[in-house]
Amino acid sequence: MIKAKPSVRRLSPYINGHHNQELINNHRKVLKLDSNESTIGPSPRVIGTVMQYLQEGPLNWYPDIDSTALRLKLAQYTGVPKNHILTFNGSDHALETIARTFLDAGDEVIYFQPTYDHFRVYAQSCNAHMVPVNEAPDASFIECMQQAITSRTKMVYLVNPNNPTGHTVSVDTVEAALIKYPEIIFIVDEAYYEFCEVTASSLAVTHDNIMITRSFSKAFGLAGFRCGYLMAHPSLCQQIKKIRVGKSINTLAQIAACAALDDLSYMRRYVDEVNTSKKWLINQLKKQGIPVKSTPANYILIRVQNPAGILNYLESQNIHTRDRSKIPELKGMIRITIGDQLAMKRFWKKFQTIPKEWLSTEAGSDDKNIEKKI
Ligand SMILES: Cc1ncc(COP(=O)(O)O)c(C=O)c1O
Repeated sequence: MIKAKPSVRRLSPYINGHHNQELINNHRKVLKLDSNESTIGPSPRVIGTVMQYLQEGPLNWYPDIDSTALRLKLAQYTGVPKNHILTFNGSDHALETIARTFLDAGDEVIYFQPTYDHFRVYAQSCNAHMVPVNEAPDASFIECMQQAITSRTKMVYLVNPNNPTGHTVSVDTVEAALIKYPEIIFIVDEAYYEFCEVTASSLAVTHDNIMITRSFSKAFGLAGFRCGYLMAHPSLCQQIKKIRVGKSINTLAQIAACAALDDLSYMRRYVDEVNTSKKWLINQLKKQGIPVKSTPANYILIRVQNPAGILNYLESQNIHTRDRSKIPELKGMIRITIGDQLAMKRFWKKFQTIPKEWLSTEAGSDDKNIEKKI
């Protein structure tokens, strides 16, 4: 067998949610609450524009490798100039390209655990070393990070709001860190920006050591199209462009994302609905005594007695949620994507049929403090 390079041989891969043909074939029956996708389709304007393009083409030509139209719309949407924006085949692709552009053997990347795990894979495949730091309150963010900084620290990876805990670092704190450490690149992953509206985007204009990644997969409901982007100073963008594969943001993804940006009220209505159903579901769960951790994004965490049993049971009912219970800080926890109200009512109906002994955590345990503890 021909072996992969040592950095890849050593890697433990990222573990995906459920994305397979069987689920896709059954998508009308399945309630997919495991990957923080939207539970409704994209704006009808997206469908109409894509259908029209399929008829008129050209499909036989490569896409616009600069995503000119999309970057123009993104500049309007974000308030960040076009030359600070690069598009990608999903924000994961942006993260991968950032790692490949800037990380080399022995470089250190600080990250706040627990967090979204994909960047680790990209960084480690470049032979970089991931340095975990425990999540800390906003006020002690810099202090905690500081303890992990060495002469080899090249990057800090911050998911804001964090997946899965929802922890958020303020823009002022991010800016203070940028100023204090001008030689370190800060990656701020804002995949869930639309749900919480905290953004460091203005810092991508004023500082040259920050890169912000965003996604069309969540609030815009375009996960299947694959489209994401980053915002950064042109001096960083120029370097990334050397290896960025412009063709991989396919034509349909570009026009779908443009159409989604032309119908922001559709996205905003969905975000409002998610917030309403989040409140409703949390209320139901709390009434049953189930410890819940809310987040400013489209997911929550619950703590249960038998996470594996519950996951399997829900799967047998065509409802997919995400097991986070193996993460040391998240013992007993399941992450649930929050979607539209109908989806959440369906979830709740089945959830109530779970055997009570699988749910209950001991009375008087630290679960009462779940909000504070993670
Ligand atoms: C924090 C975070 N970043 C990035 C991604 C990937 O997004 P995309 O679909 O744009 O690659 C996810 C998906 O779950 C995520 O949670």
